[in-house]
Amino acid sequence: MLSNTEQQEILKRRTFAIISHPDAGKTTLTEKLLLYGGAIHVAGAVKSNKIRKTATSDWMEIEKQRGISVATSVMGFDYNNYHINILDTPGHQDFAEDTFRTLTAVDSVIIVIDSAKGVETQTRRLMEVCRMRKTPVMVFMNKMDREGKDPFDLMDDVEKELGIHVTPITWTDGQGLKFNRSFVIKNNESAIAPETNDLLSCYPAFDKAAYLAGDLAPVFFGSAYKTVGVQELLDFFVANAPSPRPVEAIERQVDPMEDAFTGFCFKIHANMDPNHRSCIAFFKICSGKFERNTYYKHVGKNQQMRFSAPTCFMAQKKETVDEAYAGDIVGLPDTGNFKIGDTLTSGENLHFKGLPSFSPEMFKYIENADPMKQKQLDKGVHQLMDEGVAQLFVSQLNGRKIIGTVGQLQFEVIQYRLEHEYNAKCRWENMAMYKACWIESDDAEELRMFKMRKAQYMATDKEGRDVFMADSAYVLNMAQNDYKHIKFHFTSEF
Ligand code: G4P
Repeated sequence: MLSNTEQQEILKRRTFAIISHPDAGKTTLTEKLLLYGGAIHVAGAVKSNKIRKTATSDWMEIEKQRGISVATSVMGFDYNNYHINILDTPGHQDFAEDTFRTLTAVDSVIIVIDSAKGVETQTRRLMEVCRMRKTPVMVFMNKMDREGKDPFDLMDDVEKELGIHVTPITWTDGQGLKFNRSFVIKNNESAIAPETNDLLSCYPAFDKAAYLAGDLAPVFFGSAYKTVGVQELLDFFVANAPSPRPVEAIERQVDPMEDAFTGFCFKIHANMDPNHRSCIAFFKICSGKFERNTYYKHVGKNQQMRFSAPTCFMAQKKETVDEAYAGDIVGLPDTGNFKIGDTLTSGENLHFKGLPSFSPEMFKYIENADPMKQKQLDKGVHQLMDEGVAQLFVSQLNGRKIIGTVGQLQFEVIQYRLEHEYNAKCRWENMAMYKACWIESDDAEELRMFKMRKAQYMATDKEGRDVFMADSAYVLNMAQNDYKHIKFHFTSEF
């Protein structure tokens, strides 16, 4: 049994991510939260992990990004007897898949919206992942110190664009030049004009159960830059955001309060030093307590392993820890044993669900550009895919390897890293591709026929699952119409 104190440790954890469209103010808000937690002492200490496409070569930017993102992968701090873990998400949309995976390791999310712009594309996509997982979300309407959209229009925008009910918790005394402070609405503030009050009364009261079910988003207004409305958000957040939630494994649901330790790997960070092939595998602890130098089972490898230097992340410092609890993220130094989705347990054979691959948006054939280095290339591609940098498909027709990504920059990252870390050279060959979908059917005969007739479009992913690679919307529509019992999925988990 976990002791009373240990259970309390778990209950006080709040593990979340801040998501936004680039430039909405995620870095600034993160920094202000860290300042409240006393985790940093000066503004400007948190570096934005944005990659700005500038005149400098992209590789430089990529390396910089990797350097920054390891430091800010997880930022832990204590606030009012709560332990908060903020998980960082990449700022650049070409790394959206990393963000999707990070969202599988959080118990809730704060969405930052630029009040001059309203809901933007990347926020919309990320919200889809939250909806799939019923992740509770809070919304911070930022930059109220600038002239922006009307606050009621902003809330309508969230409701419509993000498909979630909203209720405002705080309000401000104006926008732009009139903006001065933010306050909690239910305190019967005299600063609220009667007509505003009437409009505000149309929103439902905050219902914690609806929030926890992912149906209702409490909304806050403020300015991260001017540190207005941030403490109100933080206080409400720690009081209402969920402590670690139960996690679904294929075998059963795992409760955070269970005695036995379980966790899964949601991110692998390769070493910046190409001479040492060591990585950090980031594990979300799903249940119990993790202890240093204790044997755990690597379920995929059926192997016992122990870790002498696990790290946790306090503020921006990486520290070796002796123990960590459900809700925490531990970084385990690794030399290639782990891949994304791997499970560690105290002994049980568990496989956590919910680390789906999403249908990539760009596809290229990868070719070897140095015939002497085929082995290096194969190894590099294999390891980078395990790390989750992109997805690999193998065409059934000709055995050619296809790499699928969400953005052009990922191809550049792969090429650069293959060269610098694996001493291998690759070439990209463009291909016409519309969508990759994972297929399944209850009708085995129909599935067999489909795979035979559509052989030129069939591929397998790295787990050996069948993938239909449609080169146009027309081809996909035809297939869907002609084969009624076959289901076409745009994520690998259904
Ligand atoms: P991101 O991580 O979401 O990409 O956004 P980030 O915090 O880096 O903020 C983007 C820009 O918006 C920054 O300006 C930042 O100072 C500004 N900003 C953030 N919050 C507010 C706010 O509440 N009010 C106002 N007026 N501006 C805000 P920058 O010019 O790109 O950088 P900097 O020179 O100010 O650092």
